[in-house]
Amino acid sequence: MKYFTKFDSKAVADLLIEKALFYKTNSRVDLNKGSGKRIGCIFLNPSLRTRASTQIAALNLGMEPIVMNMDKEGWALEMKEGAVMNKGTVEHIKDAAAVLGSYFDILAIRAFPSLTNKQEDIEDFIFNQFVKYSGVPVISLESAIRHPLQSLADMITIQEQWKGTKKPKVVLTWAPHIKAIPHAVANSFTEWALGCGHELTITHPQDYHLDPQFTKGAKIELDQHKALEDADFVYVKNWSGFNDYGKIVTTDSAWMLTEKHLKHAKNAKVMHCLPVRRNLELSDEILDGKRSIIQQQAENRIYAAQAVISQILG
Ligand code: CP
Repeated sequence: MKYFTKFDSKAVADLLIEKALFYKTNSRVDLNKGSGKRIGCIFLNPSLRTRASTQIAALNLGMEPIVMNMDKEGWALEMKEGAVMNKGTVEHIKDAAAVLGSYFDILAIRAFPSLTNKQEDIEDFIFNQFVKYSGVPVISLESAIRHPLQSLADMITIQEQWKGTKKPKVVLTWAPHIKAIPHAVANSFTEWALGCGHELTITHPQDYHLDPQFTKGAKIELDQHKALEDADFVYVKNWSGFNDYGKIVTTDSAWMLTEKHLKHAKNAKVMHCLPVRRNLELSDEILDGKRSIIQQQAENRIYAAQAVISQILG
C-alpha cells in the first residue's frame, strides 16, 4: 500500500479492520517496525483527534512523528500551476511538497475544502497537489471530499459492537449546524459503509443531497422518523448543501436527535466523528446516554491509523 486516501476494496478494509483490532490489544507489538523512519503530519486545518491519534499510532510503531500546522507555521502556499506569485503566496506547493517528501518516509495531510469552488473541491485539488509533488506514500488526514481514517475507525467500531447474525441497519442522518460544514465525513462514511456491505439509509432535509458518486447503492429516505425505524447504528453528521454548494439551507432543530426520535429503534447505537456541538447537532441526552459509542470511535482512531501506517511500512 502506498496511498491511503479512500476506500479501496472490501478485502483491504477487512484486512485493515483485523489489523487494527489486533493492535488494539497489542499496541506496542511492532515497536521496531518503523524504527529510524519519520512521518510528517501536515495540517492545513485544525484537529484534535486526528493529530493526537496519528502521532500515537506512529509512536506505537517506533516512528518519529513531526507535526506541522502549515496554516499557522508554514509559508502561505500557492497551489496554481504557472501562477505569477506577485500577491500573498510565498511558496509553491510543488516546491514545498517535494521538500517535505525528501524529509519524511510518509506524509499525512489534512486539507479541507474551500466550500466556495465546487470543481476544485470535488477534484480534491489541494490534497492531490501534495500527492503529485511529494513522491512518498501519502495518508489522508481528511481531504476536501473524504476522511478515510475516520471511516475506518467507524467500521472497526461497528464490527466491535455488532452482535447480530443479520446485516445491521445503518442510518446516516443529517443534523443541524450553524456553520457550513464539509461533506468529507458523510461521503467517506457512505463509501466505507456500502463498501463493507452494510445496509445504509441516508436521511436529510430536502436540498441536502450528497454527491451521487458516493450515495449510489444507499437508500435515501427524506422522512427522518421513517429512516430511523429499526436502526442498529445511527451516524449523526451535518453537511452543507452540495447542489447549492456550501450553503446552509436550513438549521431546523427538529432534525437534532433525541430519545424521542429513536422510540422505534430501541437498541440503536449512536455515532458521531466529533467534535460535536452539543444540543445543536446532538442532544446531551443521547451523547451522555447508553446509546452513545462516540468515545469508542475516537479511541479506535489510534488503531485505524496504526493499521494503515503499518500496512504502508510493509
Ligand atoms: N473526527 C476528527 O477528525 O476529529 P479532529 O477534527 O479533531 O481531528
